[in-house]
Amino acid sequence: MKVLVVGGGGREHALCWKLKRSPSVSEVVCAPGNAGIKRDARCVAVGAEDIDGQVRLARAEQPELIVVGPEVPLVLGLADRLRAFGFSVFGPDQAAAELEGSKSFSKVLMAEAGVPTARFEVHTDANLAEHTIREWGAPIVIKASGLAAGKGVIVADDVEDAVLVARDMLAGNSFGKAGSQVVVEECLVGEEASCLFIVSGDMILPLASSQDHKRLLNGDGGPNTGGMGAYSPAPCVTPDVADMVLEQIARPTIAALKARGIEFVGTLYAGVMLTADGPKALEFNVRFGDPECQPLMSRLKSDLGRVLLAAARKELDGATLEWEDQTALCVVIASDGYPGSFEKGQIIGGLDAVEEAGAAVFHAGTREEDGHIVNIGGRVLGVNALGATVAEAQKTVYAALEHLDWPGGFYRKDIGYRAIAREKSLN
Ligand SMILES: Nc1ncnc2c1ncn2[C@@H]1O[C@H](COP(=O)(O)OP(=O)(O)OP(=O)(O)O)[C@@H](O)[C@H]1O
Ligand SMILES: [Mg+2]
Repeated sequence: MKVLVVGGGGREHALCWKLKRSPSVSEVVCAPGNAGIKRDARCVAVGAEDIDGQVRLARAEQPELIVVGPEVPLVLGLADRLRAFGFSVFGPDQAAAELEGSKSFSKVLMAEAGVPTARFEVHTDANLAEHTIREWGAPIVIKASGLAAGKGVIVADDVEDAVLVARDMLAGNSFGKAGSQVVVEECLVGEEASCLFIVSGDMILPLASSQDHKRLLNGDGGPNTGGMGAYSPAPCVTPDVADMVLEQIARPTIAALKARGIEFVGTLYAGVMLTADGPKALEFNVRFGDPECQPLMSRLKSDLGRVLLAAARKELDGATLEWEDQTALCVVIASDGYPGSFEKGQIIGGLDAVEEAGAAVFHAGTREEDGHIVNIGGRVLGVNALGATVAEAQKTVYAALEHLDWPGGFYRKDIGYRAIAREKSLN
């Protein structure tokens, strides 16, 4: 079959790479794609957020399956538009995408469904938000309710900081409309994991566990980013934990949506905190995580095209997924200055040598200019490898990265450190 993938980041490169290797797939088209995706798909220059353009492209290409990668087109209703033309789409409708598009919607739904999550209040008035912040005290978490590309959450150690952040969000300064509602949350303590599910109506198929590193700097310091590295499986997600996340978080959420007349078809991503009181939901996303998608696709043995088509057609019953036993680890290479401003158009060299050293390179913010690969985004590359242990996978990635020739790029040097410490303590 022919598959159209919407998007052009590292997640979409990993999806296109895997789809190209799926026995059920004969052709992969990606819009807009990037310089690396070109190796695995035919790229068409239509932006992921150009909803009319994507609909036109789908009608011209007539793919048997459309996979919408990023959250923005889902929240803008691309899946609804495509389904209206009869396409098989993997990705939720606009109403279901609110689980990610509105943190206040998501938290209220969680409360309704009895999903374990941090205590919270939703505010639109700065004085009322301040009152709650002062009453609850620090540490405290302030979230812009709308989409903010992974940067709209501040974990404040200081009440005055928290008040300023909330006021700034509500004034529309930091995140525009996305900050017109803020969620004030109790600060949870524990290890974080990403638990993803392929959902198709009532059917919920768990993916392997993964863990990402959202903070910019080594040792999980600095601001939150879209994600600086990830690995799968996450050793902290034991079979018991995975089962609790499925039964206490994913299932009741999908059921609560259904009770509101909303059906979910696509990836449900539960960000969970493994607290002393058990797993608690931090948030939902409605698409594969990026970078988590990269190690997941590196480990997936099953035919991705077949599974996603079955989900899109509500024929997921009985489907299973097989995974490599090995650990996959991904390190993100970002442009100096990210998540702030950075210089675009810098030439990136050494990519062939990185791959010859045993790593797979997935592209995110890259473009080809005059035969060179250049950076056009904040997160630019994901360098991936498999290994018998997290430590081995990490060693391969960092050794391969010695060959990267890009002075204007940077990456964390410690991706996987928690899992490696756990491995060491077991040996
Ligand atoms: N209640 C909480 N207690 C402690 N830390 C939290 C809490 N909520 C969020 N965080 C921290 O902030 C990070 C980002 O929060 P959240 O996942 O809600 O934001 P996001 O911007 O939607 O992230 P993503 O880019 O993964 O979608 C979390 O991964 C976690 O580290
Ligand atoms: Mg999110």
